[in-house]
Amino acid sequence: MLFKATTVGSALSGALSALAASVDTTLVAKAIDPCAAIAGQKWVAPKDVRACFTSFKVDPAIKANIIDVSNKTLAFHTSVNFEKLAPEPFSADVHEDLLADFARITRTTYPSEFELHIDMSRTLKRLNDGHCVYINSCFDSVFLSFVPTPLVFLTDAFGVQNVHIAPEAFTVASAEFADQIDVWQTALPGNLKGKLSTLSGAKVLLINGRNPLEAVDANALITGSFQGLGTRQNTFFATYNLGSGGFTYAMGNFGQMSLPLSDSVTLTIQRVNSRTIDTITLPYRSRVATTATWTDTTSFRKNLCVAQPGTNGVDLSGADLSRRDQPARSISPVAKFQQQPNISPTDRQRHAMNVILDTAPKLDIALPPVLTPANPVVGSAGVAQFFMLDDKKTGVLALGSFSDNSFDGLERAMLSGLQNLKSAGATQLIVDVTGNGGGFICLAHWLHRIIVGPKSTTFPQAGLDTMARAGPLAQLVVQRIVENNADPLDLLNFNPLNWQFPNGTHFTADHDWLQPPVKRVINGRQDAFSPRMADQCQPFDMDPPAQALFNPKKVAIVSNGRCASSCSLFSITMAKKEGAKMVVVGGRKSVEQQYCGTVGGQSTDFSDMDTEIKASTTVGLKNNSLAPPDFLTNSVQGITWRLGFGVQNPNEPEEWQNHPADVNLPLTAEIVNNPFAIWKQIAKTVL
Ligand SMILES: *[C@@H]1O[C@H](CO)[C@@H](O)[C@H](O)[C@H]1NC(C)=O
Ligand SMILES: *[C@@H]1O[C@H](CO)[C@@H](O)[C@H](O)[C@H]1NC(C)=O
Ligand SMILES: *[C@@H]1O[C@H](CO)[C@@H](O)[C@H](O)[C@H]1NC(C)=O
Repeated sequence: MLFKATTVGSALSGALSALAASVDTTLVAKAIDPCAAIAGQKWVAPKDVRACFTSFKVDPAIKANIIDVSNKTLAFHTSVNFEKLAPEPFSADVHEDLLADFARITRTTYPSEFELHIDMSRTLKRLNDGHCVYINSCFDSVFLSFVPTPLVFLTDAFGVQNVHIAPEAFTVASAEFADQIDVWQTALPGNLKGKLSTLSGAKVLLINGRNPLEAVDANALITGSFQGLGTRQNTFFATYNLGSGGFTYAMGNFGQMSLPLSDSVTLTIQRVNSRTIDTITLPYRSRVATTATWTDTTSFRKNLCVAQPGTNGVDLSGADLSRRDQPARSISPVAKFQQQPNISPTDRQRHAMNVILDTAPKLDIALPPVLTPANPVVGSAGVAQFFMLDDKKTGVLALGSFSDNSFDGLERAMLSGLQNLKSAGATQLIVDVTGNGGGFICLAHWLHRIIVGPKSTTFPQAGLDTMARAGPLAQLVVQRIVENNADPLDLLNFNPLNWQFPNGTHFTADHDWLQPPVKRVINGRQDAFSPRMADQCQPFDMDPPAQALFNPKKVAIVSNGRCASSCSLFSITMAKKEGAKMVVVGGRKSVEQQYCGTVGGQSTDFSDMDTEIKASTTVGLKNNSLAPPDFLTNSVQGITWRLGFGVQNPNEPEEWQNHPADVNLPLTAEIVNNPFAIWKQIAKTVL
């Protein structure tokens, strides 16, 4: 543009040199301000994002604040002392001493706030507990870094397992990254230049010169979210999930990173029907993944790095709120990271949730049309899609989440879809919960109840008994609510009116339910919890059918293991109480595959606990020395607020009890990421 401009008449030359000067200043500013250099851009190089992130020096006050808020919030997290050393079969997977970690992080000097963030993030991820995740939107998923070659783990006709570039890789990448695909086409060497499509399905012999399984295992150590090693290994690979708007494609931890830590990857591959071995290097490219905007470091810090509305709790005193139509906590930065569709503020206020967090949001990358199941049965809606298989006896419920835009809508869809399958002749059922990160607790109870009918395992409650942690501050909150009638509108989690005894008797408004606390010694540490308590899901706000819809022994629940939270509550009760068949697809043969993980009981986060503490002048415990201060940063600290008791060992948490799959279905090139093909095989071989 400037070249053209220099050819115009001299009358403009003064203005032009002014323009040139201002451009120069911008260029200089960009050169010295690494955050200006990535401002307003959709795609950038990961190293340019790192240059911005690593330019933030550690402010000791901010560091102390992050540690203080997380540490004090974890006094409400049920699992801190259990996670110091989990029992078998998870002792090798979960052994993190958080109190020692916070002391270590306090002592450590970091070259920049970014390195501090990575340590905080990975420390919490080592719990392998998708409820207890630390996120800072100054760094996490500001950009997501992609390569166009998501991987899958396939078993061949001889039972040999290999890493492959996903057969659908190019179809997915060329649609989703249409504006960037040329960069990768050009990056390919010699005769492969421009032939990215020929890489789809290729066998991967080496990743960065090493056995691909080393990369899978290295990722399993840092990815977090699930206790089971097999599940964390599977997280490396691409998979599918059903979102509100249809089936989506998840790139996996190799294909997509939430922090800009890799600039490129070198793959040694053998393409389909090729005898040659090729070595290619593909750059990671970072795509902006925040709606926040900035022009330079100052605005980046202001708009992305400091506390935003909803980061901290709110004082509800004097608020004119009615529980149903005036949600108290409508703005939730945590929502971006909850692995579920967007939910309404009203449902968020009304219904307790159990859902995992991830440092990357769920995306709506499309599952290619040829892989997407067609002709859903009438009654399908949002994350609940129903299908009839050709055998005319197997119905399928694909359930991407236990949450959707409308709680009532999902509740209705679950019932009408299953009833329609039954009327269409289904006598057996496959429930596909691949990538289901949980959602509303009572919808997990509802689905269990409507499938198996009324019986002792579904009434007075269809889930697990739970316990909350009864730290000194939690005890004070309940005491203030009960003694001061501090929560007349019943907006608080700690309000006894929301809970009941396991026998179905509701707590009364004056029931100080943390007294006396149940004392336990866990891994050598004194701890205290509430007595056993249960969710008030029943009576449901819709009438459940009087009879079972399906024989639970003719129900198979299938996933890649990534079924968490409310999805675990549903799967565990169906497996351990009703005898449903649990199927995991994919995974290394030598590793036991867990059919779910991160059970919890009810999950929440710092902002929610902060509201419980601030709540009103009558609770007013923010001044207590045990109360976490407000976050100064744009951070989230997730917790398990109630923890479910076990089915087989009823006095210990279900969280670290075994959830082995009954069947581990190997993934082949023919069925991988093809839900319909997977269901057909399960109908044939499992049910
Ligand atoms: C974290 O909290 C515990 C109390 O639960 C306290 O003893 C410890 O000093 C705190 N650690 C840091 C680093 O502040
Ligand atoms: C239910 O359990 C609670 C607590 O143990 C007890 O106080 C109550 O009487 C029980 N209710 C019924 C109906 O048995
Ligand atoms: C907290 O302490 C401050 C300063 O001491 C005081 O002004 C404020 O009223 C206190 N708040 C509550 C809720 O007690």
